Amino acid sequence: MNPVIEAIKARRSVRSYKPDQVKAHDLAAVLEAGCFAPSAMNGQSWHFTAVRSKAVLDRLSAQVREVLAGLDNPKIRERLNDPAWHAFHGAPTVVVVSGRQDAAFHVTDCAAATQNMLLAAHSLGLGSCWIGIVARLFEGPPAAALAREFGLPDGYRPLYGVALGYPAGERPAAAPRMENTVNHDS
Ligand SMILES: Cc1cc2nc3c(=O)[nH]c(=O)nc-3n(C[C@H](O)[C@H](O)[C@H](O)COP(=O)(O)O)c2cc1C
Repeated sequence: MNPVIEAIKARRSVRSYKPDQVKAHDLAAVLEAGCFAPSAMNGQSWHFTAVRSKAVLDRLSAQVREVLAGLDNPKIRERLNDPAWHAFHGAPTVVVVSGRQDAAFHVTDCAAATQNMLLAAHSLGLGSCWIGIVARLFEGPPAAALAREFGLPDGYRPLYGVALGYPAGERPAAAPRMENTVNHDS
């Protein structure tokens, strides 16, 4: 099979990681793949922050837990009952993807960059997972302090996280894809 299509189909969200840190050259290759995403009017309206400190990731996860616990969502509450719950699934590296808010399509640009990184990670034998809940951290009062801590340029807002690490255990099977999501003009 064509290797790009093979990678697209074989990539899965990985939620169990070995503690080994991602090698610097693998991380650099993933970040470069993010930079080569398409973007509206070539705006490249993303900024990537690679967070590799376990202490910081554990603290961010605890902060996400607090935010989620305040939501009126029984399904989320049930998940939080698991003491092992971790926003980043224990991945040793998380790339926080932030968008330049004055770019009209920054959310879309950042989503394209995120998918590029997931695919690049897969092609390098890394596990990865798109982490949407990271944005929740930047909706509340700690947002400004966190943006400073991350060294974000002015005007950027975190949107997504990309959890990265070497997968532990079996690679998960793909969830079945919905049918009837394609039609043709004839
Ligand atoms: C916008 C977006 C946000 C997501 N947020 C999370 C998240 O916070 N935590 C998580 O474990 N997975 C998250 N995912 C991963 C999805 O759950 C996953 O892609 C989906 O279940 C399909 O599985 P697959 O990636 O293995 O094909 C997110 C995916 C997207 C596209």
